[in-house]
Amino acid sequence: MTMIDTTEDPSPDAAPRALYRLRAVTRTYRQKDRVVKALAGVDLDIDAGAFVTIQGPTGGGKSTLLQLLGALDRPTAGSVVLGGTDIAKATDAELGRVRATEIGFVFQGFNLIPTLTAGENVDMGLEPLGLSKTDRRARVAEALAHVGLADRADHRPGELSGGQQQRVAIARAIVKRPRVLLADEPTGNLDESMRDEILAVLESLCAEGLTLIVVTHDSAVARRADRRLRLERGTVRDITR
Ligand SMILES: Nc1ncnc2c1ncn2[C@@H]1O[C@H](COP(=O)(O)OP(=O)(O)OP(=O)(O)O)[C@@H](O)[C@H]1O
Ligand SMILES: [Mg+2]
Repeated sequence: MTMIDTTEDPSPDAAPRALYRLRAVTRTYRQKDRVVKALAGVDLDIDAGAFVTIQGPTGGGKSTLLQLLGALDRPTAGSVVLGGTDIAKATDAELGRVRATEIGFVFQGFNLIPTLTAGENVDMGLEPLGLSKTDRRARVAEALAHVGLADRADHRPGELSGGQQQRVAIARAIVKRPRVLLADEPTGNLDESMRDEILAVLESLCAEGLTLIVVTHDSAVARRADRRLRLERGTVRDITR
């Protein structure tokens, strides 16, 4: 009996599927009679599973780009496609769903709630998903274990080091099992050893398939990326080598 192999990829030459596809993206801010062009025509594809850093001078448009990638904002013109969703055209409800399920955020200042324990802070990341209490407890424990803080679930932020606080913030971002983690200067408030601690956590998450997009002024962070971008006057350049 002859078997026909149907498992073969029909298009082996196809490029890896881009997670993000940005085309001719502009974002202008209007303030009274002044117009600021924060993004001035960005074309960019980002592959799933990549570790990408974005560097560049202050005011270059880095946070503006991150907000578009995070479905927190819409472009003035152009398209920002994440998976099958065009963020420029999606409804507010669709953007809310994308943020709740597909995107984790980490900020320079950790943004933890000081009166809640590490576990309770991480649980906040599950709020929009409507899971049962049992599922939530398991997910929180898993996320804290992922960042090496299984034994700190009951500590409040004030009882943790800066690096540990940032790891709690990362656990809060990944507890929903997003496809992409967006970070704006995640090591900006940390000394060198804590920075390395955070880098190790981020790299292990990337090795498991999470896409990492990190805005950083720290060239030690950028050196570890698969792909380095520079954003200056609203325009992106690839400076990987
Ligand atoms: N909400 C806003 N209203 C008006 N202008 C804005 C707004 N947000 C950003 N801008 C302007 O857009 C430009 C890009 O700002 P953005 O915050 O993206 O820069 P950045 O690269 O993140 O800078 P930094 O390194 O200082 O964080 C700047 O000229 C800034 O003043
Ligand atoms: Mg910024």
